[in-house]
Amino acid sequence: MVQMFRSESKLDEIEKFYEAKDLKNYRILVHSVKSTALSIGAVPLSEQAKALENAAKSDDEKYIEENHHRFAEAYKEITEKIGAAFGMGGEDKNADEKADEDKNTNILVVDDNPMNLRVAQSLLGKKYTINTAASGEDAMKLLSEDGNHTDLILLDIHMQDEDGFDVIKKLKADSKLSDIPVIFLTADDDQNVETEGFKAGAMDFIRKPFIPDIMLQRIGRILELHRLQTNLAEEVKRQTKYAEERKERMERLSRETVLSLAKAVEAKDKYTNGHSERVAHYARLIAEKAGMSETEQDDIYIIGLLHDIGKIGIPDTVLNKTSKLTDEEFAVIKTHTTIGAEILKNITEMPGIEQGARWHHERYDGNGYPDGIKGDEIPEFARIICVADAYDAMTSTRSYRDILPQEKVRAEFVRCSGTQFDPKFADIMIELIDNDPNYKMKG
Ligand SMILES: [Fe+2]
Repeated sequence: MVQMFRSESKLDEIEKFYEAKDLKNYRILVHSVKSTALSIGAVPLSEQAKALENAAKSDDEKYIEENHHRFAEAYKEITEKIGAAFGMGGEDKNADEKADEDKNTNILVVDDNPMNLRVAQSLLGKKYTINTAASGEDAMKLLSEDGNHTDLILLDIHMQDEDGFDVIKKLKADSKLSDIPVIFLTADDDQNVETEGFKAGAMDFIRKPFIPDIMLQRIGRILELHRLQTNLAEEVKRQTKYAEERKERMERLSRETVLSLAKAVEAKDKYTNGHSERVAHYARLIAEKAGMSETEQDDIYIIGLLHDIGKIGIPDTVLNKTSKLTDEEFAVIKTHTTIGAEILKNITEMPGIEQGARWHHERYDGNGYPDGIKGDEIPEFARIICVADAYDAMTSTRSYRDILPQEKVRAEFVRCSGTQFDPKFADIMIELIDNDPNYKMKG
């Protein structure tokens, strides 16, 4: 209808009759404009045409002379705007593309007055794809259909059964529909209704009778706004996913780097194959039984993996010597604690990571090395690694002996509790052994 209003413009003929002062034909044509303008909601233009028709009827040439040009300009302006809105006469490609994009935009108009649905259809149908529903119930049914895609809902406030407020409440409560922008259609001029409408989630209001220019502008603006919001939300989602993936990658890289370092030690010390991973595993079991948090358990696992890292700095001849070590050689072996702490101290991301390396050979009674600290002076993580380290030493083959029987291992923890080991963690290890009747815990 709107397109017809534009394509069947009578402006040229009206101008012709105006110039010829043919008031009879002039009156017939402005009468026609009066009706068609009203049908598309161009109320002011219709009013102007009506006044000119009356003037022509009463031969009021003066009035026509004074008002014809204003009317002609308004008529021309409206037809041009309609042309622009529908992408008519556009030679440039962007306008064509925009028209295609608009045609893929689905608008649902919900109104219990069939006349309003027809008017909305004729005003918007050339530009957008229009669906209609005569009630809130019909609208919800249509929106819930599989494959339904709706970009915008024009929702009448005053309807017989459910009103617009009832419908918007249902829309906003449904996660699949809550993002669709809603514009209320209203004949009210009540500010409270508008306030309530915005509170309920409406994005805008369009008043009836529809004024095509305003209606198209508002719909275009809301669609654009919604498109921008959606793009922004998608961008935030994309960036968050990227950051999470990156974080995960970095964590994986850290884990793998630590494991590689541990393997590097084991490549040097052929009798301790898998030692670091087993110590890390036992230390984690002890930490868990001691009620430590997941994060602390993760930390002690890493500390366990790296506790012997200092062996990298010990000569192979000393490290792999099968006969009894001299005092000097043993002194060299002992330095793996301080060398390890030195290697790890620059890892600022995990403060305290060097504690396990430096103090896992300290004894609870103060007779250990390298610093001879005792009791609670020894960091808790190092006291745990000490127990885990001893368990692995006793439960794996050495060059000079076989795996110790489980009862002997248990007895060692009982015997050395309070001297070599913190009694608290020795007790936990004894409990772990008691819960392992088939001697399966050892790797
Ligand atoms: Fe060690």
